[in-house]
This record gives sequence, C-alpha cells and structure tokens, in this order.
Amino acid sequence: MTRTDHFSIVVLTGAGISKESGLDTFRDADGLWARVRIEDVATPEAYRRDPDRVQGFYNARRQGLIDAAVQPNAAHRALARLERGWPGEVLIVTQNIDDLHERAGSRNLIHMHGELLKIRCTACQDVTDWRDDLTTGHACRTCGQLGTLRPHVVWFGEMPLYMDDINRALIGCGLFLSIGTSGNVYPAAGFVQEVRLAGRGHTVELNLEPSEGATLFAETQYGPATDLVPAFVDRLLDRGAAASPIESPGPPA
Ligand code: APR
Repeated sequence: MTRTDHFSIVVLTGAGISKESGLDTFRDADGLWARVRIEDVATPEAYRRDPDRVQGFYNARRQGLIDAAVQPNAAHRALARLERGWPGEVLIVTQNIDDLHERAGSRNLIHMHGELLKIRCTACQDVTDWRDDLTTGHACRTCGQLGTLRPHVVWFGEMPLYMDDINRALIGCGLFLSIGTSGNVYPAAGFVQEVRLAGRGHTVELNLEPSEGATLFAETQYGPATDLVPAFVDRLLDRGAAASPIESPGPPA
C-alpha cells in the first residue's frame, strides 16, 4: 500500500491544545483577552502607537514559552504520532504561535498566525530565530536598520500566512480535525465550511466545549485535549492500518 492509497488529514489547532502545557488561551474566563485588550497589543495600530507596550506583551509571552515547565503534552505528541504512522499526508495548520507541535515531533506544520520564537524586519523582511526580549533599540542583523524589528506574528487586521497552501490542503482532504479552538477568528473559523463545500472530507471537532461553529461539524467530542486527542489518534491509526482507499472516511470506528 502506498501513501496515496489513504486520504489526507488536515488538523487545525488552537490555544486549547496548549492549555494543559501551561499556556493561556485567549477567550476563556482566565484567557489573555480577559486581561489585556486586543486593540492595545495585537494590531498594527497598537504597534505604531506604542511599540514598547506591544513588544513587552510578546516579550512576556516569549519568556513564558521558553520556561522549562512548558512542554508538549499528550495531545501534541499524539498528533506527531499520527503524522509518523498515517499512510497518507497529515498537515497541521496551527493558529498557535508556540513551538509545542514541533517540539513534540510534528514536521508537516503551518503556523498561520506566525511564530513567537521568530522576529521579522519590516525593512528587509528577514525572519530570524529569537529567544530574548526584543526592544525598539535592537538593530536588524541583516540590513542594520534600527527600530524595524517586530514579532513574527500575525496581528488582527493582517493577512494570515500560507493561505494558498492551506486552502489547497482543505479542499483535498478526507478528514478535517479541529482541536482546541473557539471558532471566533477567521479565516480559520471558516475552514470547516471550506471542507464541507468541497464535499469530500469528514469533519470532527475535539474541544473542551462546543465552539462557535460546532453545528457545522459532522462529529463532535468534548473534553480535555490530552484525553480526546490520543484516543482519537489511536482509533484512526488502528483503522488506517487496515483500511483500503476511502473517498469519504466517516467517523473512526
Ligand atoms: N482541551 C481542549 N480544548 C480546550 C482546553 C483543553 N484543555 N482548554 C480550553 N479549550 C478550548 C476552549 O474551550 C476554547 O474553545 O480551547 C478554545 C480556545 O479558544 P480561544 O481562546 O479563542 O483560542 P483560539 O481559538 O486559538 O484563538 C484564535 O485568536 O486572538 C487570537 O491570534 C489568536 O490564534 C488566536 C486566535
């Protein structure tokens, strides 16, 4: 059996998958947007108005992410196991800017909202790995300009990254899994509709509670990601090992 004998899987992840690793979500009662306003820290206008405040917000999150206590959890590891074990393509599209999927071993991964451990120069567009605090006093190592370095993250009002690749994968997939996202932010919140319109893929939501778009999914399961995701992946891999080519996979047995 070759890789192309099996349908491809697209997994969309959000902040909920990293919650049990110790990182905050955004819209839960104890989430980030309950403590700071989006307009103050996560828009291009906020950055123009007060770059130090915006840099400070991301510096704190970057230091939080590299804290030794923050490690990939069983849900991240299960998705890496799925990529290794599934005979077709598995693509993770994450809205998360943390690096927990790659630390768990996932390789086919798109960070549609950017990456916290990278910075970008707005003058020369160079993207660099970065683990320290960033200030407006830093100069770009590539072009030498001062005050042009910003977090390599997508702010509200900016275009998410790699949308052509993501749309192609969604249209062709046989299974779309949405994990740990509240379904409030587009375009990611619209992916389930894209898969449905393409007419091929089974759609599954795994989340702590029903998302905004919960009724659009063919199958839903609610609970912590560290319980749901490993169990779902195990069933999928058991079934994948035995399966023949399938057009529309339906829920795992
Ligand atoms: N397991 C599974 N799901 C969980 C868990 C958990 N342990 N804990 C929380 N959740 C769920 C919440 O119920 C919620 O539905 O994760 C979801 C998190 O939703 P948001 O905080 O809105 O995060 P997300 O959907 O990733 O946000 C999308 O908004 O502000 C932006 O750019 C930011 O990428 C982010 C985007």
